[in-house]
Amino acid sequence: MNRLLTTILLLATFGTAVAKDYTLSTPNTTIILSAEQGKQLYFRYYGAKAEAADVRAAGRMMKYDAYPAFGTRCDAPYASLVKQHDGDNATKFVVEKVEKVDGNHLSTLSFWLSDVAHPNLVVKVNYSAYNDCDVVKINTEYFNNGKKPIVLQKYMSAVLPIQSDNCVLMQLEGNTKNENNEVVMPLPVGQYNISTTTASRIAQYFNASFMLGLDGRLEEQSGPVIAGTLIWMGNSHFEFYNTPVARVQTLFMGGINPAASDYTLAGGKSLTAPEMVFTYSSNGKGDATRSLHRWARKHQLLDGTKQREILLNSWEGVHFDISETSMVDMTRDFAALGGEMFVVDDGWFGDKYPRNNGTTSLGDWMIAPSKLPNGIRPLIDLAHSNGMKFGIWIEPEMVNNPSELYEKHPDWVLRHPDFEPTYGRGKTQLILDLTNPKVQDHVFKVVDDLLTAYPDIYYIKWDNNMSMHNAHSQYLPNELQSNLYVDYTLALEKVLKRIRAKYPNVVIQLCASGGGRLNYGFMPYFQEMWTSDQTDAYHRVLIQWGAMNFYPSNMLAAHVGSAYSKYTQRLIPIKYRFDVASMCRLGMEMVPAKLNEAEKEYAKRAIAEYKVIRPVIQQGELYRLVSPYEGKRDFTSLMYVNEAKDKAVFFAFRHFFKHDMSNIIIRLQGLNPDAKYRIREVAPEVASKPATINGKVISGRYLMEEGVVIPELVKGYTKNAPLGEVRAGNDCRSIILELTEIK
Ligand code: GLA
Repeated sequence: MNRLLTTILLLATFGTAVAKDYTLSTPNTTIILSAEQGKQLYFRYYGAKAEAADVRAAGRMMKYDAYPAFGTRCDAPYASLVKQHDGDNATKFVVEKVEKVDGNHLSTLSFWLSDVAHPNLVVKVNYSAYNDCDVVKINTEYFNNGKKPIVLQKYMSAVLPIQSDNCVLMQLEGNTKNENNEVVMPLPVGQYNISTTTASRIAQYFNASFMLGLDGRLEEQSGPVIAGTLIWMGNSHFEFYNTPVARVQTLFMGGINPAASDYTLAGGKSLTAPEMVFTYSSNGKGDATRSLHRWARKHQLLDGTKQREILLNSWEGVHFDISETSMVDMTRDFAALGGEMFVVDDGWFGDKYPRNNGTTSLGDWMIAPSKLPNGIRPLIDLAHSNGMKFGIWIEPEMVNNPSELYEKHPDWVLRHPDFEPTYGRGKTQLILDLTNPKVQDHVFKVVDDLLTAYPDIYYIKWDNNMSMHNAHSQYLPNELQSNLYVDYTLALEKVLKRIRAKYPNVVIQLCASGGGRLNYGFMPYFQEMWTSDQTDAYHRVLIQWGAMNFYPSNMLAAHVGSAYSKYTQRLIPIKYRFDVASMCRLGMEMVPAKLNEAEKEYAKRAIAEYKVIRPVIQQGELYRLVSPYEGKRDFTSLMYVNEAKDKAVFFAFRHFFKHDMSNIIIRLQGLNPDAKYRIREVAPEVASKPATINGKVISGRYLMEEGVVIPELVKGYTKNAPLGEVRAGNDCRSIILELTEIK
């Protein structure tokens, strides 16, 4: 049992008019605040684990308003701007009381602050620290204890002062089929914002995550780094201040994007601003990533430590062309390759309007008789009789005009009643208005009906292919329209909670035109997320690598597409495609029957091998060795190491061949220096001809200090192509090695 211990601290010290330090620590980090009753709350320190006395003696104690409000020092950044019922918008927060709650894995300090002029306004700023991961969480709750409504105009979750004037920022930017590009730059002087405004497809352009190198560099294995991510399924807003007006060298604030989001809070009501997760590392960004992954798998991601299945998804193979024959063939053919699940993607539904393309039918979640005259029961049974599980695609928050649902409920969509809406995909798609409780029931029912009719559906792909245009609710009264962005997000969370209460075990993948919803907020409800629709495996290396800065491999779905990517027109051999997808949760997305015999034989071996190395890939610690974003960029290498450090899986990719690459040395990381490891090539291209390093035994120390040169990756390829026609010249070569400690 998780026995909670709440202590109302404060008190003896209060009254003596001496500010008291409040310290929370994780295994390797410490956060310090100081509070005095009736005075401002101060943020003092976030960094390597330390005693307050050392921090003070070393001159590293900051003294910055921990939750600055508009109204006092109005030239400085503020986290809070509240318009009172009488129109006054100045606030002065002072400490009322402090609480400490010790839970199983985390301790939380809550500072209750009230406004001097309008005591009806109270905020509770929470700081939590984990004892099993180097992660802290910060968020703020707003209470309107008066009778009349107030309007929250800015209500940031977290404020983090940073004692450095030389920060390097890394963020992720991109778009569909080109998600999660790493962008690194010195934090510019002035104010720099990362804001998302796409609401429903929240990570479409920017991810609500960042890393900051604090001493002028952002390196993998050294230097102080802070990483942060916001747990919120809606619009987010990060502010970085590198300006004297911040009165510390760098100031960070993060939370809900206040743009067009003035939030009316009725008397007696509260709003909990979402949590921000931070990690601090003294040893570079590699550690920061591993801390976030560890925390995500243990504490945030649904079934974060459970094994994920290898699946075939029908989308890239047949698109909307769903038929019983095509589904039956794919199921059988994938089972023959060793697959574990078959997923029917878009195109299976719609009665009056069968779904033949992206222009109709969303909302009509009945099987299209013209496409599957016998329904999906035979497909589920076929999957089972082939030893596989079954999954299906839905996009339940959406509707097309035309659809039967839209004909019945035109008032259920987000749009302004007085002008034509902006349509999404197919120029007919609209978003359902989740603030309307009837719509919440509908979305719940989409899942409930499906799982009631077919309780043996194991997996759902939950898609969302539209950013929130027409942000106007036909349900909310006009005076509450600016609550929409927040209320939509809270309503979505409510529906997801209801689904999870009834269906805790069904595996649900989150997709938004690819990785357009990658955010920690979805993790408690979705076991995995679709990383990208990009089918070019080289391009996917960049996308997956970017995503893995913040998101662990077991929640990132990665599928092997066909050799030719229609998105980039590159032709890529099957081994490289499998090796890239094996970095994460492996799947396939093609018509397996179109593989030639040599490719089929290879796919079979690669799938069988993935099953062997899967525990290390899905649960191991990630070590990045050669980045596709840095240096010459022809190479990429990374590895996973299990907790005991007696198993590791190493990946190396030669994307582009240049003559005489022979000096490419890759130094490994994360191994036990005192252990000896036997090396085995996983799924070599030709089973009987593994790489020359296969079978060798090398010490962990040597592998890490001096590294390896893999001749097969640095030399040109001279043999005849064994896997049929597909060859990208000398480009796109790769290797996976399994390392096992010899005990
Ligand atoms: C989106 C998804 C794809 C696929 C299609 C189906 O584009 O990202 O993976 O599911 O929808 O229409």
